[in-house]
Amino acid sequence: MVKPKIAPSMLSSDFANLAAEADRMLRYGADWLHMDIMDGHFVPNLTIGAPVIESLRKHTDAYLDCHLMVTNPIDYVEPLGKAGASGFTFHVEAAKENWQELIHRIKSKGMRPGVALKPETPIEEVYSLLEAKDPVEMVLVMTVQPGFGGQKFMPEMMDKVRSLRKKYPSLDIEVDGGLGPSTVDLASSAGANCIVAGSSVFGASYPAQVISQLRKSVQDTQAGCKK
Ligand code: DX5
Ligand code: ZN
Repeated sequence: MVKPKIAPSMLSSDFANLAAEADRMLRYGADWLHMDIMDGHFVPNLTIGAPVIESLRKHTDAYLDCHLMVTNPIDYVEPLGKAGASGFTFHVEAAKENWQELIHRIKSKGMRPGVALKPETPIEEVYSLLEAKDPVEMVLVMTVQPGFGGQKFMPEMMDKVRSLRKKYPSLDIEVDGGLGPSTVDLASSAGANCIVAGSSVFGASYPAQVISQLRKSVQDTQAGCKK
């Protein structure tokens, strides 16, 4: 059975107090910290890069789940590996030519490779990356257009999650964008086990409660209590 992983998206945190924000989320029950790395080119926004990951790593041992919304992911492998990233999830749209080499390099730097796909990208595009000799270990199904927090969840993406779960019962399947207490059941019942949540967690009066609600949704679905 795949484990539930709740990953607050630090994009919604107070970047000026990143270490304290990370610490707070871990105390509230987060499993992973989701780190959105953008280059202002693959997406129309610019966030953080390896220097910030390196600074944060000095303050925490937590699993840093890095989501690379960049045009040239291969250029980020070495610096992020050195900085102490844990997971390295690149976009399939940005790695059409070199995903094999990319996965190999990510692993050689001790990181866990994952692949993400935009809403308009069909799920079939990631199958070869899961069936390769050196496969990715997680698939991130975007449930909003990448680039910004606070957007509306796209329920029609759940068909991708369902197809993936059917084919790969023990794969980590992550969903990202618009997840919160009112949408998580759709994702967990489709088969997602890794839940990224930015605004719903950071904007809540009691973020710990939201984190535990998200976890409970995955657990209950897995236990067969919900459909
Ligand atoms: C969007 C990012 C997300 C974002 C999610 O491009 O990949 O991780 O922070 O934020 P919410 O949960 O607010 O949609
Ligand atoms: Zn993300």
